[in-house]
Amino acid sequence: MLIFKIFQAEDELTFDDEQVGLEDQIVIRFSHVVAENTPKGLAVQYFADLVSEKTDNKVKVEIFSNGNLYANDEEALQALKRGEIQMIAPATSKLTPSFPEWQFVDLPFVFPTYEAANEAFNGEIGQYLFSLLEYDHLKGLSFWSNGFKQITSNIGPIQTPRDLSGQHFRIMPSKLLKKQYALLDVKTSMIPFNLTYQSLEDHIVDGTENTLSNIYSKKFYRVQDHLTISNHGFLGYIVLMNNDYWNQLSTDIQMVIIESMEEASEMIQKKSIELNEQSLENIKKDSDIEIYQLTEKEKQQWVEELQPVYGSYESEFGNNLTNELYKIHE
Ligand code: LMR
Repeated sequence: MLIFKIFQAEDELTFDDEQVGLEDQIVIRFSHVVAENTPKGLAVQYFADLVSEKTDNKVKVEIFSNGNLYANDEEALQALKRGEIQMIAPATSKLTPSFPEWQFVDLPFVFPTYEAANEAFNGEIGQYLFSLLEYDHLKGLSFWSNGFKQITSNIGPIQTPRDLSGQHFRIMPSKLLKKQYALLDVKTSMIPFNLTYQSLEDHIVDGTENTLSNIYSKKFYRVQDHLTISNHGFLGYIVLMNNDYWNQLSTDIQMVIIESMEEASEMIQKKSIELNEQSLENIKKDSDIEIYQLTEKEKQQWVEELQPVYGSYESEFGNNLTNELYKIHE
């Protein structure tokens, strides 16, 4: 990871062995919107345990999951900037209203594999996108992958891009996602994650896109009739801290956070693949939702139909980023 290279520590850190009194304890409040049994939920817990262990409990990461503290990522981002909480890990799409270049991750079929996503974020693309965050006093600590997004809807089956025509979808707040669906004649609404189930159940929207672990853990599959395994989009997270808060932490604590983050990032990379696969099996067992897997030929049709989105991205952000993008596909 980009920042790990800068801060890598050689020396073993030691913290006072004495029991830490509560008044001495540093509490880092980490808020997120997903369930605990998801890639992000597990990675946050793993990170918290590591920090506590490595600092002999001098630093405690207090976790607020399921949007219990701040109902959605936008509110949590504002709370982070005000210093009410210290860490968040929103989906990259949630940052795009402030940092439009981050729409890169929303491009259709942008990463062919999980490895490609991680390589991109460890390379020049990541370096550039992370550097933008500093303008808003944000410290980007890591990029985490959840995985590929799939399509669910009450109207289906969905095999060709035209099968979505006339539908209404919930999307994350990204203009690029809106543009992508507009190309397919799909109306979109940007609805917070934790209101999505209700919007599907009440037929405010017909369908949505998300990873299998989110579709399973938030029970979207129970209020949807069709699931298409399309792998058409990628869901990644950016782990953020308030930069002023980061700067006032001691170097020792900063290094513990960096090391723990590195371990949690490795963990989520492995765990997300496993959890998404497991979620598909659970959905099959637990419902009679109709599941369709796009064939390679059908996938190609989606790729072609969505290609114009790339052109609009390139014209908005220049060809430096898009050239990097084409390297991913070489
Ligand atoms: C969403 O809004 O669908 C995602 O941000 C949920 C997540 O995984 O954080």
